[in-house]
Amino acid sequence: MSQRIQAPRGTSDVLPEDWPARRGAEAVAQRILEAAGYRRIETPTFEATELFARGVGESTDIVQKEMYTFEDAGGRSQTLRPEGTAPVARAYLEHGMHKAPQPVKLWYLSSFFRQEKPQAGRFRQFWQIGAEAIGSADPAVDAELILLLHAILTESRVRDVQLRLSSLGTPAARSEYRAHLQEHLRANADDLSGEVRERIDLNPLRAFDSDHPGTKRVMASAPRLLDHLDADDAAHFAEVRALLDAAGIPYEIDTTLVRGMDYYTRTVFEFVSGALGAQSAVGGGGRYDGLIEMIGGPPTPGNGWAAGIERMLLAAEQRPEPQPVVDLYVASAKHDNGHVEAFALAAEARRAGLAVQQELAGRSLKGQLKQADRIGARYVAILGDEGIALKDMESGEQETVESAAAAVARALKGRHPG
Ligand code: HAM
Repeated sequence: MSQRIQAPRGTSDVLPEDWPARRGAEAVAQRILEAAGYRRIETPTFEATELFARGVGESTDIVQKEMYTFEDAGGRSQTLRPEGTAPVARAYLEHGMHKAPQPVKLWYLSSFFRQEKPQAGRFRQFWQIGAEAIGSADPAVDAELILLLHAILTESRVRDVQLRLSSLGTPAARSEYRAHLQEHLRANADDLSGEVRERIDLNPLRAFDSDHPGTKRVMASAPRLLDHLDADDAAHFAEVRALLDAAGIPYEIDTTLVRGMDYYTRTVFEFVSGALGAQSAVGGGGRYDGLIEMIGGPPTPGNGWAAGIERMLLAAEQRPEPQPVVDLYVASAKHDNGHVEAFALAAEARRAGLAVQQELAGRSLKGQLKQADRIGARYVAILGDEGIALKDMESGEQETVESAAAAVARALKGRHPG
């Protein structure tokens, strides 16, 4: 035997037993988002590398080390999408959606690719439910998006959820703050981890994410961006908080919240779950008022979030898997042409709208009845030499019916409501 081929590291199969819970979470998200006016979009699995380099940012971990990038036959650099916001912003621009009433509200359910170190809750291909509202700077958009994700996580029974909220201000306020932070980091450079020290110039904000004890100590006394917001940004943030308070959504202000993309401005947030390990973020997002300009469009405000489906499911209460409905199981006790008749009966029953399964493994009649019981079939049609018998698996009663059509009619009548 040749060597067995396995799935790539950090990827996982979504097996049949995983689908009931997954489909449940997807249905909750679709219902809540579409009821709020979000319409579904799907963008290509790969995009020009330039889109992420400019949109997500050259200095981010995503662009520096996590993208799956390849050259296509035409020599163009392409990248498997590591996230959905830059592609949706590109689609908004490309399809002239600025002409539609604003904000344009879009949602997606797609898979994304990041070459990260695999661990519990962290994969190299993962799925996100995401929402983007483009074209309005109103703080109500920020609050509404947060409220919708809160509702989705609550209805999906994600356990022990907390909302962390902050504001990153404008790029100008942030660059001024960056200089303060760099000063602080340089003054305490000896206590920092090597990695943080090397990135003081490139990405000093990332130091807030470090687990290194010395770095954590230095960061505890670091200046906070929230204290350096300009008046407009501070007013915007106050309004977002007031709206969340009015809607009864609890949150914690987290001045250390940094997100992994450069496009954020003003409001940023993350929902974390205590039911997860180190990768505790179930969903996150924020405002990105500069993104569309960064990718070649006119100044256009935008805002959104994405939640990881695998993490939502890991953090959710387990629910028993519902058994699929089987209205009719077609068994055959005949030797010669029985399987052909059984096949024809199953086909007729399916055309009539019944959920039908038929014998496919050459079991004995006893084995077939056992299989019908195992899958919870409501009726079993047994094709024998003397005709068709229909067995009601609930009462155990068996009657002879004169034709396939009669068996189908009987099974239709006795079908479970719903
Ligand atoms: P993100 O925080 O990078 O944001 O990802 C959002 C969520 O996707 C995370 O909270 C997590 O649940 C899940 N996720 C991320 N990486 C992985 C991974 N390697 N394995 C499993 N799950 C993962 C974004 O992607 C932004 N585009 C969100 C956004 C939309 N901001 C504005 N609009």
